[in-house]
Amino acid sequence: MLEIVILAAGKGTRMCSELPKVLHTLAGKPFLQHVLDRSDELASANTFVVVGHGAEMVRKNVRAKQLTFVEQLDQLGTGHAVKQALPHFSGESTVLILYGDVPLISTETLSALVDVVTEKALGLLTVNLQNPTGYGRIVRDSTGTVQAIVEQKDADKDELLISEVNTGVLAVKAKDLKVWLPALSDDNVQKEYLLTDIIAMANKEGKEIVTTQPSQTFEVLGVNNRIQQAELERVFQSAIAGRLMETGVTLLDPSRFDCRGEITAGKDCIIDVNCVFEGDVSLGDGVTIGPNCHIKDAKIGNNVEIKSHTVIESATLGNDVAVGPFARLRPQAVLGDKAKIGNFVEIKKSKIGVNSKVSHLSYVGDAKIGDNVNIGAGTITCNYDGVNKFPTTIADGVFVGSNTALVAPVSLGENVTVAAGSVVTVDVPDDALAVARSRQRNIDGWVRPSKDD
Ligand code: UD1
Ligand code: CA
Repeated sequence: MLEIVILAAGKGTRMCSELPKVLHTLAGKPFLQHVLDRSDELASANTFVVVGHGAEMVRKNVRAKQLTFVEQLDQLGTGHAVKQALPHFSGESTVLILYGDVPLISTETLSALVDVVTEKALGLLTVNLQNPTGYGRIVRDSTGTVQAIVEQKDADKDELLISEVNTGVLAVKAKDLKVWLPALSDDNVQKEYLLTDIIAMANKEGKEIVTTQPSQTFEVLGVNNRIQQAELERVFQSAIAGRLMETGVTLLDPSRFDCRGEITAGKDCIIDVNCVFEGDVSLGDGVTIGPNCHIKDAKIGNNVEIKSHTVIESATLGNDVAVGPFARLRPQAVLGDKAKIGNFVEIKKSKIGVNSKVSHLSYVGDAKIGDNVNIGAGTITCNYDGVNKFPTTIADGVFVGSNTALVAPVSLGENVTVAAGSVVTVDVPDDALAVARSRQRNIDGWVRPSKDD
């Protein structure tokens, strides 16, 4: 049985923030949540998060299966932190120790580590770094057997030259932790109970210390400040970008691509620079997305063209649709095949039928628009009386002239024509022309006022 403990009690002073460090985000998701998601994938029987600084806020902002929070009131070291969870571990389990500020660790790396743990061996994740400064060094004897981990502050001159370092991640039998953790002392330069000291204890007991290495070095990088946060963000984004390109998507610049959720795409999609994707986004085949678009929770069909500066949230687009530039599709906008939404058009909670067009400067809210409808520039559905929202229904084949106000609730029958500049307050029957504006009056020979008077 696997139990996971995630250390997340530290303050994260170098983030210079009111927010606990582990709640800072990578791809829009708290660091700690990334780690918890791995924990769920590993099917951990119990997951314990050791919290201290900002404990309440941490509790409220993350979730996982079988999750228990354990409080560490004073941060007396990593060994002390794990010890807080000790009473919860079942004797037979393997305990995997992770960090809430090391967000990119992969399940493959972790399962390989967990696999080496036996009654006689524990697993230690190490990595070789060109610059090992700050990390605990892995001390081996002449046969290559791991003897101990020596922290930077406790290391002598020779030990400081060792490039193999402790990632902090380790897997060990709970039984052994129950013996070793209570025996830790804080007799070191940092005056802390160092988890790393259990390695020397294990060695003394004749246990084998099996080291494994992460598939990629970035997996074990922790975040201590906002510069490292930004660096890991790019690493994470380039991994997503890489996966998309491998499945047939062209990214005009993968370094200017951001996905803060899940994106799937068919073949031959082209995504221009500075687009941000959030939530669940799916693109069909042959979708092109212009620069600077923000797309969140959207289902987009085949051969759709989304032009620059378009904002889409919780919307569904059929096939062969064109949207933008500068369009905004708000929640529950549903566009039928071949629909066209042009610049400065906002669509909210509305269905636009097949081959219907709203090309310029319009607001369509709480409306049902049929097929082959043309909505002229500057048309507004007046759906709100200050308290309630009302629907507008527009049947197939309607032509709405420019600068029309449709005062809901109102409905336009099939093939209705609305004269430009109308304020439509009553329903219009099929095939009628609605003219709802004052008649034009011309005054002959009109003399304009002049400044000389
Ligand atoms: C630790 C390791 C070091 C390793 C490095 C990798 C120890 C003693 N040292 O050093 O060998 O190379 O990680 O990054 O383990 N924490 C608590 N409670 C505490 C202390 C720490 O929850 O009382 C948490 C912190 O929030 C942090 C993590 O544990 O997320 C690591 O603690 P930190 O003190 O930063 O360890 P390092 O000095 O980096
Ligand atoms: Ca420390």
